[in-house]
Amino acid sequence: MDLGLKGKVALVTGGSQGIGFASAQSMAREGADVAVCARSEEKLEKAVQQLKEHGTEVMGTAADATEKKEVLRIVDETVKRFGRLDILVCNVGGVYKRGHFMDLTEEEWEASLALNFYSAFHACRAALPTMMKNRWGRIIIISTAVGRELGGAPLFHEAIEYSFTKNILLALNKIISKGVARDNITVNCVCPGPIRTAGAWGSRPKETVDTVLQDVPMGRLGEQEEVGDLVAFLASERASYITGGVINIDGGFLNYLS
Ligand SMILES: NC(=O)c1ccc[n+]([C@@H]2O[C@H](COP(=O)([O-])OP(=O)(O)OC[C@H]3O[C@@H](n4cnc5c(N)ncnc54)[C@H](OP(=O)(O)O)[C@@H]3O)[C@@H](O)[C@H]2O)c1
Repeated sequence: MDLGLKGKVALVTGGSQGIGFASAQSMAREGADVAVCARSEEKLEKAVQQLKEHGTEVMGTAADATEKKEVLRIVDETVKRFGRLDILVCNVGGVYKRGHFMDLTEEEWEASLALNFYSAFHACRAALPTMMKNRWGRIIIISTAVGRELGGAPLFHEAIEYSFTKNILLALNKIISKGVARDNITVNCVCPGPIRTAGAWGSRPKETVDTVLQDVPMGRLGEQEEVGDLVAFLASERASYITGGVINIDGGFLNYLS
C-alpha cells in the first residue's frame, strides 16, 4: 500500500528518540521530509543522521517544547526550510511528578500542563494556518492509555497529573478535528500502552516491567516502531476519513467497551 507520503513535510516534537523518532523514521521511510526537535543537541544530531539514511530531507532543531515561543520557532523554521508543513506529530510529554492532587504545588501542575498539554496546544495553533491555506493536513497527538482511564494500572495510580494532562488532549483532539474537517485536515489521538523506549519501559528494571505486563493481555511491551507505523498511517492519504479518533495501541491493556 502506497501511503502517499512522498513530498509531504512532517514535524515531530520530541523526535530524537523513542516514539517520536520512530514516527519520524516511519514517515521518512515512506518518502516524507521530516523536521524533528528535542532539547539535547547531541541526541538530535545522531537522530538526524539516522533519519537521513532514508534519503529524504531532514531538519533537526534544538528546542524546548514546553516554552510557547520555542514551539512557535520550531513551526516557523520548518515552514521556512520546506515551504510547507503537512503533518504535525505532537509527541512531547511524560510523567512530571507522582503524587495526589494536593501533593503537587500549583507550579508543578503548571509545569505538567506545559509539558503534556500546552506543548501540543501551541504546536497545533502554530501549524494549522499553513495547513488550512494548503487545504490538507494531518495532526497526530500522542496521549497515553492512562489518559483514557485514570490510573489504569497499579504503576500509574499515583501519576494523576500525567493521566489528567494527557486526558485533556483527547478533548483538544476532538474540538480541533471538528473545526478543521472541511479544510481536509484530520486530527487524531494515539494512546500507547507500555512501549519499550529509552525514556520509558526500555530503561526500567525487569521486576517493574513484569508488574505492568500482568495487565497487558499480549504479555509483552510494545515496540516504538509499532507506534511509529500507526502514526505514519494516520498521517497518510490512506487515513483520509479518520478524524477525531482516539486509537489505542496497547496490547489489549484498556478494559472499557466504548
Ligand atoms: N513509552 C511509553 O510507554 C509511552 C506510553 C504512552 C504514552 N507515551 C507518550 O509518548 C511520548 C514519547 O514517549 P517516549 O517513551 O518515546 O519518550 P522518550 O524515549 O523519553 O523520548 C522523548 C523524546 O522527547 C524529547 N523531549 C522530551 N522533553 C522535551 C521537551 N521539553 N522539548 C523538546 N523535546 C523534548 C526527548 O529529547 P530531549 O530529552 O533531548 O529533549 C526525546 O527525543 C510521550 O508523550 C509519552 O507520554 C509513551
